[in-house]
Amino acid sequence: MIIVNNILDLRATISAWKQNGLSVALAPTMGNLHAGHLKLVNSAKQKADKVVVSIFVNPTQFGINEDFASYPRTEQEDQLKLATENTDLLFLPTITDIYSANALTTVKVSGLSDIYCGASRPGHFSGVATIVCKLFNLVQPDIAVFGLKDFQQFTVIKTMIRDLNIPIELLGVDTQRESNGLAMSSRNNYLTDIERQLAPQLYEALGIAKTAILAGQHSYATIEQQAKQSLKNTGFTPDYFSICSSHDLSSATKQDKDMVILAAAKLGTTRLIDNIYFSL
Ligand code: PAJ
Repeated sequence: MIIVNNILDLRATISAWKQNGLSVALAPTMGNLHAGHLKLVNSAKQKADKVVVSIFVNPTQFGINEDFASYPRTEQEDQLKLATENTDLLFLPTITDIYSANALTTVKVSGLSDIYCGASRPGHFSGVATIVCKLFNLVQPDIAVFGLKDFQQFTVIKTMIRDLNIPIELLGVDTQRESNGLAMSSRNNYLTDIERQLAPQLYEALGIAKTAILAGQHSYATIEQQAKQSLKNTGFTPDYFSICSSHDLSSATKQDKDMVILAAAKLGTTRLIDNIYFSL
């Protein structure tokens, strides 16, 4: 695995690969890697000759009261994990490599960036779209790999690729879960032992809602209300629990066939997100 921490070396390595006719896949991350990230790497390797992983804790996607400073940084462990997986190049830029002080341009996918997680985290998805657009321009991959655990993020990137005619194939990878159903996430590290035992109930609530929809229950508002109430009873503070069209995240109607249920809830100070998607 080649480790690169500057843009010149990155571009030189990738253009040499391309001149040799090799295809390139990119999996962007913020590090503190777990089995979910490694699943992206392995999915990338099945689709392309060379796999690039970036690790960059992106300051512009964190709100002022969020955990940018305390976000877990585990560079040594991450490098070891990637070296034993199918990673060809690890890109580790610094903040000054990525953001120049005189930058005037950001990318925002309107509408989609202001709902669900975007409503509670103003500016978050613009920070994500901007860094992902920059990484796309730096790496110029043929394929980009993202986790469907962050379904709204995936939809924002999908829409950005469409609207800006970015010549990249987007690959979504299913959520990697603990054996108890909890979606793997770097932020699970913040949970106390008791919270960790409760946390899988977020995915359980999604499963119960899905079963109700598949059984023909049509009052989506009622299902959403019941799910939020049961999460509250368990000790969560729900942010949203919303039954949506999986194409554009609009509220699902009876005509929709491809659905995703998006949920976010706090357990103590930790904000968890999860979703479940299915077709009727
Ligand atoms: P991060 O949270 O590190 O996630 C990096 C990638 O791993 C994302 O595509 C995310 O959806 C995926 N991922 C996280 N947990 C997963 C799981 N349990 N199963 C499958 N995939 C999972 O998402 C970000 O970083 C950032 O916003 C980023 C896109 C890198 C931009 O800064």
